[in-house]
Amino acid sequence: MPTIVLPAAVREILDRLTAAGFAAYVVGGCVRDSLMGRLPGDWDICTAAPPETTLALFAATHRPLPTGLKHGTVTLFQAGTPYEVTTFRTEGAYSDGRRPDSVRFVSEVTEDLARRDFTVNAMAYHPDSGLVDPFDGQGDLSRRLLRCVGHAETRFLEDALRLLRALRFAASLGFALESETAKALRALAGSITRVSPERIFSELTKLLCADGAAAVLARHPTLLFALIPELERQVGLDQRNPHHCHRLWEHTLAVLAATPARPALRLAALLHDVAKPFCFTVDRHGVGHFYGHPEEGAERTEEILRRLRCPNQLREQVTRLVLWHDERTPAELPAVRRLVRDVGWATLPDLLALQRADTLGQSPQMLEQKLARVDGVEALLDQVRRERLCCTVAELAIDGGELLALGCPGGPAVGRLLSVLLDEVIEGRLDNSRAALSAAATELLRRELPG
Ligand code: CTP
Repeated sequence: MPTIVLPAAVREILDRLTAAGFAAYVVGGCVRDSLMGRLPGDWDICTAAPPETTLALFAATHRPLPTGLKHGTVTLFQAGTPYEVTTFRTEGAYSDGRRPDSVRFVSEVTEDLARRDFTVNAMAYHPDSGLVDPFDGQGDLSRRLLRCVGHAETRFLEDALRLLRALRFAASLGFALESETAKALRALAGSITRVSPERIFSELTKLLCADGAAAVLARHPTLLFALIPELERQVGLDQRNPHHCHRLWEHTLAVLAATPARPALRLAALLHDVAKPFCFTVDRHGVGHFYGHPEEGAERTEEILRRLRCPNQLREQVTRLVLWHDERTPAELPAVRRLVRDVGWATLPDLLALQRADTLGQSPQMLEQKLARVDGVEALLDQVRRERLCCTVAELAIDGGELLALGCPGGPAVGRLLSVLLDEVIEGRLDNSRAALSAAATELLRRELPG
């Protein structure tokens, strides 16, 4: 029988419930993670005690909050950490996509476990009575299989978000989908659109940031294509270009696998070539080209991420990454300073990581030169940062007010003059000092403002 070491605060909650005569267990993700030797993110508890009883039992000590009384959930707090305690229940359908329409409180833990999504999530544990595992979750853990509890289609129809959860758990645990579960997932992929976009987006981001995301999406792409149909056009597309050894969808997955697991980067990896199938041309030598795909890709990315209700700041960052992903800035100081001016410091570390991953997803020839370029740009960015080299108008040692005082006409002329001065500074032809800038500005104004 496996033993799970519980935090003292959790043990105390279980003990108080059992002392009051109610069965209580830790349940779900914390049991699964503990059996896999992973540290659980949170500890959920299920109990035969009705929610009102839990509220009363912990009123004096745990600041209990009735977070979902109708569904049996009370949240307790111990040293600032929340613990959800939920009464054993069975559930009706989830027509709002968030909570079941109806629940019925039950007295047996096994009935509660039967309403849960996957066998590995349907285990409960108490230190005295051990593991309750009616669906052989432990067996599936050792077989590394994600399997629905009972009838897979029923489970997915109850809550279509479970379709994405299935891929997310497969990707984060490194499990395969059991065949009936995989079949149901393919058959019901279209029903994911019944779930609210906010829930979909949060689950999709978790899936993309899981270690095995690319491998799972390679085997089970249908659900993703139901969410982002634009990507399906990548399947089978032979890029017919010496830089590429993969078909387009395989390239996208290779880039996804090679990017660090941060939401902006993983989303950008997934979408960086989204416009390629729409921009594909073949020249008279039979070579494929994708002219304009970063610009069109940025437009499509913006549209897709709005549709998916991606938070604004994240959407802007991903869109900027897609727009600039193909920019081959040479490893030369002025070019790197222009890159800072155009892309901004906030996006540059992610852009370089994306370019490295994009390169790793291409043909092996020229790989070293391509990576050396990215390394060179990164080293120059360090130099720019260290030496605080001016890259933006805001960093110039002169401002618009001073230009007006020098006789510059007001309005757009000020911006134009600042940007000419910045170009001179970036190219290394002018010092970023007030004296040098005002002398150059005076001279330019004397010769009339260009542009
Ligand atoms: N659950 C379910 N169906 C859902 C959501 C959750 O059956 N659509 C059940 C599962 O038993 C799950 C538990 O509720 O284990 C808790 O859900 P959640 O906190 O979302 O997931 P965890 O399994 O705890 O995993 P993680 O914390 O790693 O996301």
